[in-house]
Amino acid sequence: MRILLGVTGGIAAYKAVLLLRLLREQGHAVRVIPTRSALEFVGAPTFEALSGEPVSTEVFDDVPGVQHVALGKGADLVIVAPATADFMARAVAGLADDLLTTTLLAARCPVVLAPAMHTEMWDHAATRSNVATLRERGVHVIEPASGRLTGVDTGPGRLPEPEDIAREALSLVDPSSVGAVPQDLAGRRVVVSAGGTREPIDPVRFIGNRSSGRQGVALAQAAAARGADVTLVAANLAQDVTDQVDAARGAAGRLACSVVSVESTAELRSAVRAAGTEADVVVMAAAVADFRPAATPDAKIKKVPGHGPAPIELVENPDILAELAHERLRSDQVVVGFAAETGDASGSVLDHGRTKARRKGADLIAVNAVGSGRGFGTDSNEVTLLDGAGDVVGHASGTKREVADAVWDAVVKLLP
Ligand code: C5P
Repeated sequence: MRILLGVTGGIAAYKAVLLLRLLREQGHAVRVIPTRSALEFVGAPTFEALSGEPVSTEVFDDVPGVQHVALGKGADLVIVAPATADFMARAVAGLADDLLTTTLLAARCPVVLAPAMHTEMWDHAATRSNVATLRERGVHVIEPASGRLTGVDTGPGRLPEPEDIAREALSLVDPSSVGAVPQDLAGRRVVVSAGGTREPIDPVRFIGNRSSGRQGVALAQAAAARGADVTLVAANLAQDVTDQVDAARGAAGRLACSVVSVESTAELRSAVRAAGTEADVVVMAAAVADFRPAATPDAKIKKVPGHGPAPIELVENPDILAELAHERLRSDQVVVGFAAETGDASGSVLDHGRTKARRKGADLIAVNAVGSGRGFGTDSNEVTLLDGAGDVVGHASGTKREVADAVWDAVVKLLP
C-alpha cells in the first residue's frame, strides 16, 4: 500500500517515527510529509532514513514533479499523526499553504487523522466543531486516547499507540489487513496481572510500590489484539493507565478484556487464581509486595509525640507466581513472571534474574533492570527472557507494547 504520513507540530510527533517504522515493517511504502513545525520536534533525516524517501514541507521543493498534486493522487491512504488543533482548523478551512495541506486537497483516498493535544484544546468548541465538520466530509478522525499528556497532566488528548493507529487506519482500506496482527492467541484465555499491590497498615496507610501497570496493560492489549480472551487483574494502576484502559475498552476492538480491580496481595492472589483455573497462560506482571503488616487495626494508628514510631510487624506474603508455577492450576498452562532487578555486589541483573527463574519455576521470566529512571512509569522497557532453567531464550527492547509482543511471541512457542 502507498501511504502518506502527515506529521504536524506537536510533541507526539516523536510517536510518528514509531508509526512510520511499523508501517514500513508491514511492507508499506510510506512518504512522510511533515509540517514546518513538526520538524521542530523531529528532524527530516529521521523520517528520510526510516522511509527511504525524500521529505519536504513545501510545494516549491520539486516543482517539475508537481508533488502537491501527484502525492495525494497516488496515495492509497493518508494518515496524519499527530494532527494538531491548528492543522485540523486549516484542513476545515481548505487552506493550501504547505505540502501537507495541498496534498490533503488532492487526495481521493481514505484520510485518517489521529489528533493529539491537551484536553482543554480537544474539548474546545472550535476543535469539536472542526472534528465534526471533518467527519461529515468523510475524514476518519480517531478518538484520542486518554492518559498522560506532555507534563504530569492526564486526560483525553493523548495520541493513541502507533499499533492502534495503524490497525484502525489500515482496516479502512483493507479490512482483512487487521489480520496483519497475527491471531496466534485466538481461542486462548490469558490472565495478566498489572500494577502494584498495596498492603494496608491501617485504614489510611499502606505499603506500596512504584509500579504504574503500564507493562501489564501493554501485555493485555497485545494479547487482545492477537485474539486472546483476556482478564486483566489490575492492582492500583496509575491514573493515566486506568484512563488508557477505560478509553481502550470504550473504543471497539482496542481492548476486549475483562478487568478485575484489586488492592492487596491477598485480593490479587484470589483474582488471579479464580481466573487462572480456566487460563492457557498466566502472566504475573504486577509488582507484588513480598511482606504485609501482620495485623491491620480498624482505627488509624496514632502518633505519640516523644515516642518513636510503633514498630510494624511484617509477615511474608505467598509467592503467587511460584505457587502457580508449582501447582499448575490447569495442565499445559504457561506461567510467566517478571523480575525487576538492580545489579549489586553479589551479582548482575541477569545473575539475579537467573536465580529467580530457577527458584520460581515459571516457564518464562522477563528480567528487566530497574532504578535510575529505568523500568517504572516509563513508556519503554528492555527485557531478557529466560526459561525455567535460567537460560536466555530472547531479548526485547522498545515500547512496552513491543516488549509485550516479544513476550507473547515466546509464549506462543510454548503453547501446546
Ligand atoms: O521475587 P520477585 O518479587 O522479584 O518476583 C517477581 C515476580 O514474582 C513477578 O512476576 C511478580 O508478579 C511475582 N510475585 C508474586 N508474588 C509475590 C512476589 C512476586 O507472584 N509475593
